[in-house]
Amino acid sequence: MTLYSRVRPLAFKLPAETAHDLGKRTLQAAQSTWPTRTALSYAYGYDDPALEVDLFDTTFPNPVGVAAGFDKNAAVTHALAALGFGFVEIGTVTPYPQAGNDRPRLFRLREDEAMINRMGFNGQGMERVKARLEADGTPDIPLGVNVGKMNSSSEREAIEDYRRVFDRLSPFADYVVVNVSCPNTPDEFDEGSPEHLRTIFETLEAENDRNVPLLVKIGPDEPEESVFDLVDIVQEFDLDGIVATNTSTSREGLTSPRREEWGGLSGQPLADRSTAVIRSLADYTDGDLPIIGVGGVDSAESAYEKIRAGASLVQLYTAFVYQGPSTATRINRGLAALLERDGFSSVEDAVGADLE
Ligand SMILES: Cc1cc2nc3c(=O)[nH]c(=O)nc-3n(C[C@H](O)[C@H](O)[C@H](O)COP(=O)(O)O)c2cc1C
Repeated sequence: MTLYSRVRPLAFKLPAETAHDLGKRTLQAAQSTWPTRTALSYAYGYDDPALEVDLFDTTFPNPVGVAAGFDKNAAVTHALAALGFGFVEIGTVTPYPQAGNDRPRLFRLREDEAMINRMGFNGQGMERVKARLEADGTPDIPLGVNVGKMNSSSEREAIEDYRRVFDRLSPFADYVVVNVSCPNTPDEFDEGSPEHLRTIFETLEAENDRNVPLLVKIGPDEPEESVFDLVDIVQEFDLDGIVATNTSTSREGLTSPRREEWGGLSGQPLADRSTAVIRSLADYTDGDLPIIGVGGVDSAESAYEKIRAGASLVQLYTAFVYQGPSTATRINRGLAALLERDGFSSVEDAVGADLE
């Protein structure tokens, strides 16, 4: 029995966001001294050269990252690295601090191994995040920065929001993600319209003197034609990849009494849908566009499925809540065994193996 399996029933008695804040405070305390940080690395680190992925001009020690939303303000990146994650994506970061939606806004759907959230881009804003990255340093693993707009911004203001956050935080980033797929922020205008996306990418490319890899994060609910339209724009602007997928508005197949809450669904019920999006993206681009696969990754098998469908890296959030600090180590250990079983010498060899 792990320590987390003993703590979890207590944590799950608390409202989800309270438990989450408590967990983050524990991680913050653990990363704040050298002995505790080292103890975490010692307990949870798992190194295997077969898991390394060279992408975006850097080396990811393993392909299992923390998805955006968990560490919105870059408060626990060092602890996440010590827990054996291969990279961490901070954010979504907005230009100014923002309260987000009213609580409660995060719900566990235990029967479905899922969560629904309508956080609404709560966060401390880019200046606090920048100050923290300067004070604490960046972690020893690649850092992604997920950038977003203020909820109240008009279409024109949104472009300036993305530009400002990019300008402030891209110097710390191994890659930057433009998040235009959050289902629980207000729809002031069509964020996915080709004109809007073109203006965003044009603006950020003009700002991107250091050639920081630039990706876009997409949702799981769009019809295939819209996804392909987006890919065409991504390729037109020579962007570096796609993160697939964000949370879903679908409630298909759920049994939990909480399923009627509004917001974005994450976790196990999202797994197949997100893998299908990854597969069709990889097919459409002949595997030429790097994909970070996210949605319901909770085991070595589900991570491997996304890799074989075309993802070069994977991320998770919900499984970390359900499975605790050993999540990355367990998935990585299992992934190494699956690669060996199937005769792949590295993760990179397995990327897209299921594509025709
Ligand atoms: C509480 C919560 C907050 C999230 N916040 C963000 C966010 O700020 N930006 C973003 O791009 N994705 C956000 N996500 C989506 C995750 O990054 C991920 O795409 C989604 O949860 C699917 O992964 P999972 O099934 O492993 O949780 C959030 C997810 C959750 C559960």
